Amino acid sequence: MTTAKITPKVLVIDDDNDLRYSLKRVLSGRQYEVLEAASGEEGLIMAEKHCPHVILLDNRMGGMSGMEALQHLRGINPNAMIILMTAYGTTQTTIEAMKFGAFDYIMKPFDLKKILSLTESAIAASSDLDKAGKEESVPAVSKEDIEGGIIGSSSAMQEVFKMIGQVAASDVTVMITGESGTGKELIARAIYQNSLRAQKPYIAVNCAAIPENLIESELFGHEKGSFTGATNQRIGKFELCDGGTIFLDEIGDMALTTQTKILRALQEGEIQRVGSSETIKVNVRMLAATNKPLEEMVKEKTFREDLYYRLNVVRIQLPPLRERKEDVSQLIDFVLKRLARDSKTEAKLISPEALALLNKHDWPGNVRELENLIYRSAVIAQGEMILIKDLPQELVRAVGSPPGPKVPKSQSEPVALEEEPLHAVAPAAAETLLGHLAIDPYDAVYADLREAHGINILEHAERALIARALQDAGGKQVKAAEILGMTRATLRKRMDQYDLG
Ligand SMILES: Nc1ncnc2c1ncn2[C@@H]1O[C@H](COP(=O)(O)OP(=O)(O)OP(=O)(O)O)[C@@H](O)[C@H]1O
Ligand SMILES: [Mg+2]
Repeated sequence: MTTAKITPKVLVIDDDNDLRYSLKRVLSGRQYEVLEAASGEEGLIMAEKHCPHVILLDNRMGGMSGMEALQHLRGINPNAMIILMTAYGTTQTTIEAMKFGAFDYIMKPFDLKKILSLTESAIAASSDLDKAGKEESVPAVSKEDIEGGIIGSSSAMQEVFKMIGQVAASDVTVMITGESGTGKELIARAIYQNSLRAQKPYIAVNCAAIPENLIESELFGHEKGSFTGATNQRIGKFELCDGGTIFLDEIGDMALTTQTKILRALQEGEIQRVGSSETIKVNVRMLAATNKPLEEMVKEKTFREDLYYRLNVVRIQLPPLRERKEDVSQLIDFVLKRLARDSKTEAKLISPEALALLNKHDWPGNVRELENLIYRSAVIAQGEMILIKDLPQELVRAVGSPPGPKVPKSQSEPVALEEEPLHAVAPAAAETLLGHLAIDPYDAVYADLREAHGINILEHAERALIARALQDAGGKQVKAAEILGMTRATLRKRMDQYDLG
C-alpha cells in the first residue's frame, strides 16, 4: 500500500503585505502550499478551515496581537507548529511565546534562509506529531508577568529564554550553570515566576553560605534535642516550601552526606528531620545552580554521580558576557534606567567613546561586574553623561591602549583624547556625534564659508565647541578641558589660536 504524499501547508499571518509576499515566494519555491492572512482574526478563520501544518505568525499587528492569536490557534489547531515573528523582541515575549506552545521564535528582520530552515524543521516536527498521533496539551499558564528584569537580545540569551518558556510549566528539575555573575539566580527566579507554582513559595538556599553542620537542619529541620544547641523543634526549608519551588544555589559546594539526602528528597519526595525517624512527604520542584565544574567533581567523586544525573534533567548553560557582547549596551542602558528609577533622578547616558571602550572589555565578572562598574561610574559622573574619565582608570588603561584612546598616567589629569582621533576610536560614535552637532561638511553654508572666506570647517567647529564648553564650565578651564576631553595645556593653546581668551 502506498500513501499519497501530503503537501505541507504553511499559513502566514502578518499585516505587512510585502513581507507576506516575500515569504509566499520563498515558501512556494519549496513546494509548500502557502496560505495568507492579513490579521490575527483572519488567521484564526483560515487555521480552522485549512488546518495548516505550520503557522508563521507576526507578533505586532493591528487588532488581535500575535500572542493572543497564538493562544487561540493552539486551541483551534493544537498540532500546528507556530513560529512567532517579531520586530519587538523582548525577553518576556520569547518566554511567553514558548510557554503558550510556540514551536519557535524569530526576530525581524530575519534572513529568509533562516525562516526557511525553521519552517522545514517545524514541518518535520509536525509530521512527527501526526505519526505519534499525540496532541500536545496547552499548558495552563498564569498571566503573571515577570518584572522584565532579564536583558539579552543576543541569540545565546534568546535560546535561554526559549528554554525557560519550555521548561517553566513542567515540574522538571533544571540545572543552571555558568560563570559567576552570568545571571543564574535571575534565571532560576524567572523559571519559578513563569511556572504553575508561581503562586506557591519559592525558597533559595545558598549551599555555600551555610556551614556544613547546619545545612541538613536548615533544609530538613530538626527535632528538639537532636544535637547540642537544638533547643526547639525546627521546620526545614523543604517542609516550608511544600507545593513550591526550592532553588539550591551553589550546589557544587554541598557536602556528600547532604547530597545523599537531597537525592532521596528528589527520588522519593520524602525527607526526615534531623533526629527523627519519621518520614515526611514533600512536594517541591527543585532548581539548582553552580559555577563549579560538576562533571569533573563527579569524576573526582566529590559530587554524587546519581544526584548529578537527577539534577541535570534539563541544563541551562548561561553564556559568559564576553561571548554575547551585543548585549552590553542594552545592559548598560537597563542598569542606568534602574538606577534612575531607584534614586528618582533622570537616567544618565553614556558617551559613545566610553561605550566603545567598554565594548572592548572582556568582563571576567560578567553582568555583575558590568552592574557594579556602571553604578560606580554613574555616581562619579558629574554631568548627565558618563565619560571615559568616569570609568575605572585601570580598565581604561587595560583595554584602551593600544589601539584605543591614550590615557593619562595620573588620575587627576583629564583624558587626552585629542592625540587619538575620534574616528580611530569608534567610527559609529563619531558619526553619531556629528549627527548631534548637525555638522555636514557638504552643507552649502560651509561650502560657501570655505570658498568665499577660506574658513576651515574643522577649526570652525573646534572653535565653536571650545567656546560652548567654556561657557558651560563658567569660564573654568579645568572643567572645560574635561568636557572636551583634552588636556588643559591643549585647551590653552587652542584658546590662544582662536582668540578665545
Ligand atoms: N541578563 C541579565 N539582565 C539583567 N541583569 C542581569 C542579567 N544577568 C545577570 N544580571 C544581574 O547581574 C547580577 C549577577 O547575577 P546573578 O546573581 O544571577 O549571577 P550568578 O550567575 O548567580 O553569579 P554567582 O555564580 O556569582 O552566584 C545580579 O544583580 C543580576 O540582577
Ligand atoms: Mg548566584
